[in-house]
Amino acid sequence: MKIKVGKKNKKAPKMKAETLSDKSKFAIVESYKAARTNIMFSLSADDNKFFAVTSYSKGEGKSTVSSNLAISFSKMEKRVLLIDSDLRRPNIHNIFKLENTAGLSNIIGKMTDFEDVVHKDVIPNLDILTSGTIPPNPSELLCSARFLELVEKIKDQYDYVLFDTPPIGVVSDALLLKDLVAGFVVVLRERSTTHGDIQNLLESASLADCKLLGFIKVGCIGNRKRGRRNYYYYQYY
Ligand SMILES: Nc1ncnc2c1ncn2[C@@H]1O[C@H](COP(=O)(O)OP(=O)(O)OP(=O)(O)O)[C@@H](O)[C@H]1O
Ligand SMILES: [Mg+2]
Repeated sequence: MKIKVGKKNKKAPKMKAETLSDKSKFAIVESYKAARTNIMFSLSADDNKFFAVTSYSKGEGKSTVSSNLAISFSKMEKRVLLIDSDLRRPNIHNIFKLENTAGLSNIIGKMTDFEDVVHKDVIPNLDILTSGTIPPNPSELLCSARFLELVEKIKDQYDYVLFDTPPIGVVSDALLLKDLVAGFVVVLRERSTTHGDIQNLLESASLADCKLLGFIKVGCIGNRKRGRRNYYYYQYY
C-alpha cells in the first residue's frame, strides 16, 4: 500500500478542526460517512464493536477524528460511547465542552461509578466518558482489572464504543487496549505524518500483535473561489 503523506513540514496549516454538525460542509460529512461504512465493514466479521483511534505522533487529529466518527456513528440510530482514554493530554471534554472533574481514571481508581460520570446523550445516541483526573500512572490504569470490569459492564449497553488514545510513537498506552478492541484506526495527517512514522507505527503494531482496521488521512482541500487550501478533507484506506 502506498500512502502519500509527504515530508514533515513545520508549516503545516494551523487550523481549528470542526466538530460535525448540521452546518458542516457536505464533503466533510460524506468523508466521515465513507470512513464509517468502511469501519463497519472491517468490524462486521467481529462480535466486538469496540475500536480505538490512534496515530504515530501527537497533534495529528486523533481526538478530532474520534469525535467526528462517534458523531457519525450515532447518526445511524446506534447507541455509541466515546471514551477518552488519553489519560495524558485528554481533549474530548474540550471538543464537546463537557465537565471533566471525574471520568475514566476516577472509575478505574474506584472513586466513582460509570453511571455517575458518563455524559448521557451529548447528542442523541452519543454518550461520552471523559478522561477524568490526570493520573500519575496512566499505563497501569489502562491494564488494570478494574478497566476490564468496566469494559465488560458497558459491552451490552452500546452498539459501538470508540476510544481516543495517545500517540503510539510517544507512549504505548494505546497498544494496551489491544485485547479490548477489535482493532485500531490510524490517523495520518497531510504534510505532518512521514513515511518513517508509518513504518514505525506498523512495526509497533505488529510487535504488539495489534490489528489495524485502516487509515484515515486528514488534510486540507482548496476552496476554488478563494484559491486557498482552507478546509479539511478525510480519506479512508
Ligand atoms: N484535518 C485537520 N486540518 C487542520 N487542523 C486540524 C485537522 N484535524 C485537527 N486539526 C487541529 O489540530 C489540532 C490537534 O488536533 P487533535 O487534538 O484532534 O489531535 P490529536 O492527535 O488528538 O492531538 P494529541 O496527540 O495532543 O492528542 C487541533 O487544534 C485541531 O483543531
Ligand atoms: Mg488527542
